[in-house]
Amino acid sequence: MPRAKTTLPRARPSAGGVSVYLLAFLAPHSPPPPGISRTQWAILLKWFSTTRFTAAWGDLASCPPSTPSSGAGFIFAGLGGNEIHPETLIKVASAISKMLAEWKINAVNVRVCGAKLNDAQTRTLAVALFTAAKSDPHQRGKPLPPIHWAIEGLDPNSEREARLVSAALIRSRKLANLSGNLAPPEFIANAAMKIARERHMNCEIWNPARLRKENCHALLAVAQGSANEPRLIILKHRVRPGGPKPLILVGKTITFDSGGLSLKPPKSMEWMKFDKCGGMAVLAAMEMIAALKIQRPVIGILAAAENMPGHRAMRPGDVIKSRSNKLIEVLNTDAEGRLVLADALSVACDFKPAAIVDFATLTGAAVAALGHVYSAVMGDDSVVASLKESGQRTGERVWPLPLHPDYAKAIRSPFADLKNTGDGAAGAIIGGIFLRAFVPRTIPWAHVDLTNAWEEKPSAFAAAGANLFGAQLALDWVRNFPK
Ligand code: BES
Ligand code: ZN
Ligand code: ZN
Repeated sequence: MPRAKTTLPRARPSAGGVSVYLLAFLAPHSPPPPGISRTQWAILLKWFSTTRFTAAWGDLASCPPSTPSSGAGFIFAGLGGNEIHPETLIKVASAISKMLAEWKINAVNVRVCGAKLNDAQTRTLAVALFTAAKSDPHQRGKPLPPIHWAIEGLDPNSEREARLVSAALIRSRKLANLSGNLAPPEFIANAAMKIARERHMNCEIWNPARLRKENCHALLAVAQGSANEPRLIILKHRVRPGGPKPLILVGKTITFDSGGLSLKPPKSMEWMKFDKCGGMAVLAAMEMIAALKIQRPVIGILAAAENMPGHRAMRPGDVIKSRSNKLIEVLNTDAEGRLVLADALSVACDFKPAAIVDFATLTGAAVAALGHVYSAVMGDDSVVASLKESGQRTGERVWPLPLHPDYAKAIRSPFADLKNTGDGAAGAIIGGIFLRAFVPRTIPWAHVDLTNAWEEKPSAFAAAGANLFGAQLALDWVRNFPK
């Protein structure tokens, strides 16, 4: 993000806090934005010309208040035209939040000039501002005072919604950022239960005894090398009985992925506390759905386990019977996500849902294919298409990969119905092909292979750690699913 220099004649103190202007354009003779006098604007234009601020996307120009309490000060941020993408708003919001944190400011008025945001865009901006304001989970020292945002054009209802959405994001992100020792499956289950109670969702937690009773041997097999027990967490947002069929969100929740006996090399293990991010995105989405009282039943299922190489660990070559009765030959214990999801999808199908989407940090191959810009999506065309649209609206972008039946040859096994790895080619697709074996073709389904679930270092736009990619995608998808 190129930044303009940030020196400016002192702004005059004004009562309503720092003024933030998001400018679509800066024409040589543009009239002053509302709230700025002609004289002030003339000074500002002169100042802009001495800096590199042209209102291009990413441009920032700011003038800190003379004292934190005076509340004066300006921030100008460029939007780069009036075609505004969600990620532009998200990035601008985080940049502004960082600046305000530096200045220790807690009241801001945000105005958009030269463009008219639609309701969804205004809400995106609000969510991004609310979330970013409390964004740095690794922040040391005193917590910042809450920031009072006023966003022009944001109606009270949207504001309430933005607050609820960002509260859910902040809460699940805290959980997602916890390390493997601090947040084993049981801990995640308790946290989910707490959220469910608060938001009036029904929450069922299956412990190992229940999992055995339910024949979830694939989930149990993944957990058996760990001292930490697995849990299957089922959250239900119910509306009235007799309504439409539920939508189901399933999340891979591996609290730490060592690879098991097919042990990962140390470098590849460093980030594997984030292998629960699919589940954490689903948890956040469920909290949002319940808090916003979405008028449609939605079920969230988190398959939580730790993948460790303990003395009881599953071995390469082991044949396990999944809940759906399909036998799986485990050739690589590091392909554990598809095993826990196989059982979770089988549970999901029992609810006779209208559609299922699963979210998982399933393969490194998806990252190799798409980088961190798009996550991969695969499955039934209708679900893939609706997710792609939600991705465009929310900025949580997904791109389709094909699930042609010919790929299924790669996971044929001489000892079981299928094996859990292919020959190394088309790794992300093979993950999808494997999962599809656990969903009858009568149930619309898609799988999202997350490539961008966490940030490895802080940037101008985001703190390091989980970003809950998928949560807003899931919310948007649920909201727009045909009744
Ligand atoms: N959790 C990993 C996938 C992963 C790695 C996601 C890095 C994001 C970043 C998953 O369980 C895994 O290890 N997958 C294997 C599959 C392979 C053994 C077929 C992989 O991608 O190498
Ligand atoms: Zn793995
Ligand atoms: Zn994994």
